[in-house]
Amino acid sequence: MKAAVYEGPRSVTVKDVPDAKIEHPADILVKITTTNICGSDLHMYEGRTSFESGRTLGHENLGQVVEVGEAVTKVKAGDWVVLPFNIACGFCKQCEQGLTNYCLTMQPEPDKAGAAYGFAEMGPYQGGQAEFLRVPYGDFNALRLGEDAPGRQLDYVMLADIFPTGYHATEMAGVKPGDQTIIYGAGPVGLMAAYSAILKGAGRVWVADHQPDRLRIAEEIGAIPINTAEQDPAEVVKEATLGLGADNGCECVGYQAHDPQGTEDATLTMNGLIDTVRFTGGIGVVGVFLPEDPGGAEAQGELEAQGKVPLDFGMLWFKGQRIGTGQAPVKRYNRALRDLIAGGKAEPSFLVSHELGLDEAPSAYEHFDNRDDGWTKVVLHPGNGNGSRGTSTTAHQTLEELRQEARDQGLEGRSHMNKEQLRQALGH
Ligand SMILES: NC(=O)c1ccc[n+]([C@@H]2O[C@H](COP(=O)([O-])OP(=O)(O)OC[C@H]3O[C@@H](n4cnc5c(N)ncnc54)[C@H](O)[C@@H]3O)[C@@H](O)[C@H]2O)c1
Ligand SMILES: [Zn+2]
Ligand SMILES: [Zn+2]
Repeated sequence: MKAAVYEGPRSVTVKDVPDAKIEHPADILVKITTTNICGSDLHMYEGRTSFESGRTLGHENLGQVVEVGEAVTKVKAGDWVVLPFNIACGFCKQCEQGLTNYCLTMQPEPDKAGAAYGFAEMGPYQGGQAEFLRVPYGDFNALRLGEDAPGRQLDYVMLADIFPTGYHATEMAGVKPGDQTIIYGAGPVGLMAAYSAILKGAGRVWVADHQPDRLRIAEEIGAIPINTAEQDPAEVVKEATLGLGADNGCECVGYQAHDPQGTEDATLTMNGLIDTVRFTGGIGVVGVFLPEDPGGAEAQGELEAQGKVPLDFGMLWFKGQRIGTGQAPVKRYNRALRDLIAGGKAEPSFLVSHELGLDEAPSAYEHFDNRDDGWTKVVLHPGNGNGSRGTSTTAHQTLEELRQEARDQGLEGRSHMNKEQLRQALGH
């Protein structure tokens, strides 16, 4: 089968790899129709993790079950499923408490916890940027989707990671109705955190980044953009809150945070949040920070290469702030978020900018890694190069082109629309 394989820093190729297959009676085998490139893949792509050459990437996966192991009873061949990026057993000490993000069974190293598809330090599992994916403990891990799944893959695939992850950031930060919330990072995760805060009824949500194209999307979903090349988020937020600061904040950037000129400094967002969030406020950190950063010494310094980030800890303590960190436990949220999508209350596909075939993965990685203008979220369709057969993705115009046309016409609410709705609104 074909897969997107990591060959070394900034090199991904699509090539034949051994077929994924059932290896354990509780496994299921999924034909992947939609799989995303994530900001987390970029840490690996850039060679900034211990990810081994030759492994397949891809942890945001959706598809159709083609085979189930003997011990699988709930999931059936033919089911449409979305797979949490966390691989969990369901029966260990951590899973019993809902901490599937730190499963003890699926992580082979005894001094570590947590597993994922195609991910550094998260077990030997192959990724889903491939034609097929082996899913361990299929009954526990797969979330089944309804009949609308084939036509709404772009919405449902966001349940594999970034929608629950953005939501988790707001949970750790303690976002409640009426809150004033600041999000650092307008990448897919930051946009999903902002979207989640808005869904929860936050009174005001700011999103800080230096990428104008991403800030524009933040504004379209009802957040207030702060361009960090022009404004200091702490100043903007304090001025708007009688000097108090935001009630809470989310870190959606990670250890490769940089200034608008591109100079990396892992302290920027955390210290920015400590400054911007009020006394006793909560901070949810889903941006990735690692104990070891192979490229860190060159990019930032010796300390940063060992995951040691100089934090304004004195100020954090003085302000009595709380911090929550880590990988998101996707299963805690994915069922409820699925039903928000199914019920028409959430359409996380608004951030998809590109739908491409698996063969186009190498150039997609390059563009997304450059944060090229308009490359917000890339979705790959293995197989026929168009996973949503016979549905909204078959027309000639890409989503991006439709969005541009809608922007040109000043169409309201366009960021919430999928291709079909955009086409209708544009009178095609
Ligand atoms: N905890 C989890 O479970 C989990 C899940 C998915 C992704 N992540 C992590 O979340 C982070 C974001 O993911 P993404 O897909 O949105 O990545 P991304 O790289 O596409 O987006 C990051 C955004 O941060 C912006 N940025 C950089 N420095 C900044 C700064 N100093 N201030 C404000 N904005 C800044 C960039 O311009 C970019 O738009 C990554 O670290 C990713 O690994 C974590
Ligand atoms: Zn991801
Ligand atoms: Zn477990």
